[in-house]
Amino acid sequence: MEEKKKKTQWHNLLLLLLTLNIFTTAGAFDYSDALTKSLLYFESQRSGRLPYNQRVAWRDHSGLTDGLEQGVDLVGGYYDAGDHVKFGLPMAFTVTMLSWSVIEYRQQIAAAGELEHAMEAIKWGTDYFIKAHTSPNVLWAEVGDGDTDHYCWQRPEDMTTSRQAYKIDEKNPGSDLAGESAAALAAAALVFKESNPHYSHLLLHHAQQLFEFGDKYREKYDWSLGVVKSYYASVSGFKDELLWAALWLYKATDNEEYLKYVINKANSFGGIGWAMTEFSWDVKFAGLQLLASKLLLEEKHKKHSHILKLYKSKADYYMCSCLNKNTAAKNVERTPAGLLYVRRWNNMQYVSAASFLLTVYSDFLKTSNGKLSCHGGTVGYEEVLSFAKSQMDYILGANPLNMSYLVGYGPKFPQRVHHRGASVESYRENKGFIGCTQGYDSWYAREEPNPNVLVGALVGGPDCKDNFVDRRDNYMQTEACTYNTAPLVGVFAKFSELEVQENVDQGQNLDLVASY
Ligand SMILES: *[C@@H]1O[C@H](CO)[C@@H](O)[C@H](O)[C@H]1NC(C)=O
Repeated sequence: MEEKKKKTQWHNLLLLLLTLNIFTTAGAFDYSDALTKSLLYFESQRSGRLPYNQRVAWRDHSGLTDGLEQGVDLVGGYYDAGDHVKFGLPMAFTVTMLSWSVIEYRQQIAAAGELEHAMEAIKWGTDYFIKAHTSPNVLWAEVGDGDTDHYCWQRPEDMTTSRQAYKIDEKNPGSDLAGESAAALAAAALVFKESNPHYSHLLLHHAQQLFEFGDKYREKYDWSLGVVKSYYASVSGFKDELLWAALWLYKATDNEEYLKYVINKANSFGGIGWAMTEFSWDVKFAGLQLLASKLLLEEKHKKHSHILKLYKSKADYYMCSCLNKNTAAKNVERTPAGLLYVRRWNNMQYVSAASFLLTVYSDFLKTSNGKLSCHGGTVGYEEVLSFAKSQMDYILGANPLNMSYLVGYGPKFPQRVHHRGASVESYRENKGFIGCTQGYDSWYAREEPNPNVLVGALVGGPDCKDNFVDRRDNYMQTEACTYNTAPLVGVFAKFSELEVQENVDQGQNLDLVASY
């Protein structure tokens, strides 16, 4: 009898340990650590005069004469990827997504001790947008150009390439750029509303002017600015950005006029017409549709519920296609190991942006007590969230190569990121000038790992078969962009909160083990 009881006890303990083991493996990723690292990345991308509290120590001041030739102060902002062009459209989208992350997950970010850093990352962008918006209908759109920049491989601190600045204005308008910049500034105004009302008000003022400019002079910015064409052409046009900007402005001001814009132009601007399977720096429809869906939660929007529901049906479509629950042809492809796959070049940007929308959508379903109805079945909020988690876990190392595509996270991550500053020895250590082609000869072509770790960067990632080649010249896979990491800030924050809850549960289980 005694023997049998002991056996049962041991059996139970074993079961418990097994469960714990499964649990530990499943929850093996440290999302708080990932969150901290993702915010560090924005410090690596800083252009301009670095502040005293700069934590990424291998970087130094750069681009200190940006705009000088044109008689305008364009010092600051972010380098967009592995080069040193300051491209307005992707930079603005980066700031919109950082701001949206804070708006949705402020508490979680604060609980992880990262709110200050997140707000600094946003402000580094918005301070620059304010400088670049020199009069109501003038916005400086780009500093440097892709062609001359890519001819050189230099540290930002040594830059000798053209720093020509380009602008949009009444004669050369760009509604997509003005719209996205307005969206970024309006979203950031919400972030700073409580902590810095004066700054928030300033952001809003610029946002409103930029929206007006973009709406009044309607044109695609790459039509006005040939220089962006082969780098960041706005393929989806400007209607998505104008609707998106109007909606962010409505959220930031509560001014009904902006809401009316979103409702009245829903049809003519494609807001309820386009069903999308991509959300990116170019194509905002899915984000707009989700944001519009969330207005349904508030009683005061009841009179617009007809149009808002049409927006929601398109948001649903996007979520269903990510979840593989539309008809087959309308689903987002996946790699054999389950990573969303949109295209070969920098696929991870679509994964991180999709994961953000799925995470926010999951919260929306939970709050509204709703279910997602797809062609292939009905889905609850847990399933949506758990799919987003699968994408995060793939990024952090749950993939066939055991590779974390978030640089600096975990034991194995890309060592040869296609990034000028990271791949050349630090300026802080060696201030000797490194020339344009010298960088290619001495640093780009090296087999060795980069001397500086670009912590928190999300690289382009694997191909459609989960393969990844860690070479500096494999820029489709090893280059990182600011808009890859920005949505991760929100998603990591969400999962870091769940992690804390799980650790509490696990603690209780451990108590149980101890009692044996
Ligand atoms: C990945 O990790 C698993 C489990 O530890 C191991 O079996 C597998 O060989 C690893 N794969 C690679 C490519 O390192």
